[in-house]
Amino acid sequence: MSALAAQIETGSVLDGLTAQPADPLLALIGLFRDDPRPGKIDMGVGVYRDAGGKTPVMAAVKAAEAFLLKDQQTKSYLGPEGDARFAELLTPIAFGEIDRAQLCGVQTPGGTGALRLGAELLARGRAGARVLVGTPTWPNHVPLMEAAGLQIVPFKHFDVATQTLRFEETLAAIKAATPGDVILLHGCCHNPTGADYTVDQWNILAPLIAERGLLPFVDLAYQGLGNGLDADAFGLRAVVAHNPQVLVAYSCDKNFGLYRERVGALFVVSDTAAVIQSNLLALARANWSMPPDHGAAIVRTILDSPELTASWRAELDAMRLRILSVREGAAGRDPALATLTQQTGMFSMLPLSPDQIRTLREVHAVYMAGSGRINVAGLTPDAIPAFAAAVAAVR
Ligand code: LMR
Repeated sequence: MSALAAQIETGSVLDGLTAQPADPLLALIGLFRDDPRPGKIDMGVGVYRDAGGKTPVMAAVKAAEAFLLKDQQTKSYLGPEGDARFAELLTPIAFGEIDRAQLCGVQTPGGTGALRLGAELLARGRAGARVLVGTPTWPNHVPLMEAAGLQIVPFKHFDVATQTLRFEETLAAIKAATPGDVILLHGCCHNPTGADYTVDQWNILAPLIAERGLLPFVDLAYQGLGNGLDADAFGLRAVVAHNPQVLVAYSCDKNFGLYRERVGALFVVSDTAAVIQSNLLALARANWSMPPDHGAAIVRTILDSPELTASWRAELDAMRLRILSVREGAAGRDPALATLTQQTGMFSMLPLSPDQIRTLREVHAVYMAGSGRINVAGLTPDAIPAFAAAVAAVR
């Protein structure tokens, strides 16, 4: 039988596929772009915007790129670990002081690549391992973990209607978990709610996780955009101080403004770091072989230079303060926005119905995620009154 005849008889493997909906968050990018209305407001996908509504290339990034263009001698392969110096230079920023013998890590394509690699490492360690996930969470957390074969165990992190963090429910979920379960934690700037644990709450959580024998997996994608670089790493460092093993998915996409370059790293703290590193290399090889270089080379160049590091830190701080000023400016304009000052980082989640969110988009040209998540950094100072008025109009 010819190959064609065989395929006609059995059908192609691909015939079993059904059409998938576009990712609703990413679909907003196109909807907003195609909206001709002047004064439209984009609070959809999570990218920082300055007071002029632009997502600038940071000055330190431009300088590092100029340096690389002039000085880079080769684009030959680096290996599945990517840029090792990049990961080494990120280590003190994320962890502060740490025993490097207990730490391994590889460069990944963005924070998503780090999460996926971590999920695959967990599945390789224990097929079908359970992961406690506070809800609501970043919409990609669940499909990403499930695609790696992990089981999600949800608990309530935040109540949108009352805008309150449900710390008691987090504690109850940890107490009810089985030793060996994994718990996914947002290190800072919780996506989508902006509701982070306080210092006191981290100080309760970190030892409790250890006592219950859970494995913490910290997603740190917005370091520096909440309360500052060190403050935003407080939770991670508390978790590392108390737990013998910790996974960390790190993203430089937001705090270096490198989004499309896809710059991240997966770190693992463990006294079996060498064995874990060998598994990370094998998994990376089977996924993307080697991560893309350019973004990590930029970060490495910045962090290897005291001048560029100072410039990066100053610009990052200015971004953080702008987000804070938007929160303060909007919170005073409408009671429904008053809680914006209690939340941290780029996101908050408003208690709006799907109809209200659609009306905001269709009638008022205000774009936000279908969940009611707003990217606070999407508001320019001029747009704050129009946004507050639109929210008031749909309530
Ligand atoms: C977001 O949450 O908007 C960003 O992390 C972009 C994404 O990949 O979802």
